[in-house]
Amino acid sequence: MENPVAVVGGAGRVGRLVVAGLLEQGERVRVVSRRARAAGAAESFRADIRDRASLAAPLAGCSAVVISVEPGTADRGPDSPEATMYQGVRNVLDAATAGGEKPHIVLVSQIYVTRKGHPINAQGRMLDWRLAGEDAIRASGLPYTVVRPSWLTGGPRGGAVRLEQGDLGDGQISRQDVADACVQALYSPSALAVTFEMYNAPGAARTGWAELFQGLAPDLSTAR
Ligand SMILES: NC(=O)c1ccc[n+]([C@@H]2O[C@H](COP(=O)([O-])OP(=O)(O)OC[C@H]3O[C@@H](n4cnc5c(N)ncnc54)[C@H](OP(=O)(O)O)[C@@H]3O)[C@@H](O)[C@H]2O)c1
Repeated sequence: MENPVAVVGGAGRVGRLVVAGLLEQGERVRVVSRRARAAGAAESFRADIRDRASLAAPLAGCSAVVISVEPGTADRGPDSPEATMYQGVRNVLDAATAGGEKPHIVLVSQIYVTRKGHPINAQGRMLDWRLAGEDAIRASGLPYTVVRPSWLTGGPRGGAVRLEQGDLGDGQISRQDVADACVQALYSPSALAVTFEMYNAPGAARTGWAELFQGLAPDLSTAR
């Protein structure tokens, strides 16, 4: 990419794998974390997604921004999903475009976001606010990819990956596969303007990312 790629939550478990994948691709990477940390070949920035001003420097002039942030579960206030997954996402959109840039935004969301009755939604309306953050990205006019992992597992790549749309499924996906999807989405036109769920599909043959992304339907303006 012409300019750096910022990873908000880049010190997290998925975030670190995204950072490593981007460095492997030869990108200049900015790790955005609430603590300043050593980040190897990446540049480290201290910022909080809830604080718009703190995002100005790390997101200025970026070609892409990956968001992989774990929200709090409070009903309201700074530890609520509203603060991170909705207002925080809006802060990112605002800060990343302040200089007229049009970066590719990749959001790590989750399955269940359209299933309001799921017990996870009792945690600060986590699902409603995640969906509102997704909607803000879909309505932003920016190039974007919304990734909805199923239950995350550790360890290496988890065999074959299945992408779905419509938020109907259930299952597991390895963090490494989620990170790979976030990185590969930046290089695939078929991964633009799409929202998809991710599952590992044990026993199935592994497919390349280009082929997986080509199987996706682009979001309609009202589609979820
Ligand atoms: N657990 C599951 O089964 C599951 C399923 C589907 C989706 N997901 C989602 O997948 C994503 C990645 O998960 P993970 O396991 O990699 O999470 P993780 O290891 O807990 O990392 C999340 C990162 O979020 C960052 N963060 C939290 N609040 C922040 C704030 N206010 N401003 C900036 N950064 C903040 C933290 O960074 P610092 O502490 O460095 O600031 C942390 O490193 C999360 O959104 C998670 O909710 C999880």
